Amino acid sequence: MASSSKPLLLIISVALLFFSLLISPSQSANCSSQTFSNNKLYTHCNDLPTLNSYLHYTYDSAQSTLSVAFIAPPPKSTGWIAWAINPTGNGMLGAQSLIAFRNSTGEMTVKTYNITTYAIQESRVWFTVNESTAEYSGGVMRLFATLVLPEKGKTSVNHVWQVGASVTNGVPDKHDFQPANLNAKGTLDLLSGETNSAGPSSDSRTKRKNIHGILNGVSWGLMFPIGIIIARYLRTFPSADPVWFYLHAFCQVSAYVIGVVGWGTGLKLGSESKGIQYSGHRNIGIALFSVASLQIFALFLRPQKDHKFRFYWNIYHHGLGYTIAVLGVVNVFKGLAILSPAKKWKSAYIILLIVLGAIALLLEGITWVVILRRKSRKSTKPYDGFTDGQGRQQLSS
Ligand SMILES: *[C@@H]1O[C@H](CO)[C@@H](O)[C@H](O)[C@H]1NC(C)=O
Ligand SMILES: *[C@@H]1O[C@H](CO)[C@@H](O)[C@H](O)[C@H]1NC(C)=O
Ligand SMILES: *[C@@H]1O[C@H](CO)[C@@H](O)[C@H](O)[C@H]1NC(C)=O
Ligand SMILES: *[C@@H]1O[C@H](CO)[C@@H](O)[C@H](O)[C@H]1NC(C)=O
Repeated sequence: MASSSKPLLLIISVALLFFSLLISPSQSANCSSQTFSNNKLYTHCNDLPTLNSYLHYTYDSAQSTLSVAFIAPPPKSTGWIAWAINPTGNGMLGAQSLIAFRNSTGEMTVKTYNITTYAIQESRVWFTVNESTAEYSGGVMRLFATLVLPEKGKTSVNHVWQVGASVTNGVPDKHDFQPANLNAKGTLDLLSGETNSAGPSSDSRTKRKNIHGILNGVSWGLMFPIGIIIARYLRTFPSADPVWFYLHAFCQVSAYVIGVVGWGTGLKLGSESKGIQYSGHRNIGIALFSVASLQIFALFLRPQKDHKFRFYWNIYHHGLGYTIAVLGVVNVFKGLAILSPAKKWKSAYIILLIVLGAIALLLEGITWVVILRRKSRKSTKPYDGFTDGQGRQQLSS
């Protein structure tokens, strides 16, 4: 039965493969081939790094006028697109925004918003809008505007862009919180035409979130449950006697090490995320770390097999173990909901859990058959459901 660690290893590697495919951002497009129906020409254009959007612009530094064309596909034709300059920060809060959407008569319109909360209100903004129009065709919205910046001689600005799916009573509704939405920001060099993502808070942050997801998904979400399966079922077989223990200890200790690293990445991500708090995910993560650390203590406090406290130690150890498995799986799902990768990753994880569950069920059945056979062979000694003839622990939780 020791060979049943092979399928388990296979599951782990398949899982690693699945999760590592999460890191695959790329988009190929080319703004220089875009033309406009009004034949406007702009000095610079940029393929923006997220949301399939593009920015064309011309800057006249003497007049401080900035002409922009922002192009993006809204999630729905009834949605909105927005482009903003943030003179005071690098995210959404403080963004001086132009938002294009259909108004109540169905015509494309552009309005300005000084964004201070999610409940946005049309308002004056930092720059003067000399001219603005918008159009919608082929699933793509185009926002044209000529702005006069209040500060002369500015050469670089922080900009933010966004898309949303709906507008209610003339007010654009909240956008999604996918990585692509959250990373839609950067700096714009008005003269050279270069754009940069907003430093480490952008692309690399998504990468770090994915790494956090992989580490925790594999450790808490898979290795801990697999380690439990090893301990619960392999030791039924006398031939697997010391082996199951080392496999189990190795699996759980490595899961703990990987899990703690993943936990650390999570705390770091959480401390950097000022605007949005995922308190459920965070609290479960902290609880998991605490319970798992207690479990590591259990390893050192383990009494001898025939010690009278061993019974209580078993309850403690198994109780913590199952708690970790349940919290781990729950938190992987919570994490998946936050990271929201393509649906297939969640499905892949569910399938892995079902496979593990099926393996556990099968082994549960085999274990009972073995125990009942053993019991009937040694029918002189009553089976108390807790230990077999040799005092070995059986299905003790
Ligand atoms: C964009 O298109 C132009 C002309 O079609 C081409 O020369 C250039 O290599 C393209 N750039 C990218 C990044 O594809
Ligand atoms: C809708 O937008 C168009 C173009 O900006 C404007 O002419 C029209 O008055 C607007 N309609 C309403 C009801 O605001
Ligand atoms: C935008 O709103 C903030 C907070 O209410 C305010 O301090 C700021 O002056 C406003 N900016 C403009 C350009 O009105
Ligand atoms: C605003 O636009 C009008 C017409 O497009 C133009 O004549 C005027 O000079 C512009 N104002 C500024 C400050 O650029």
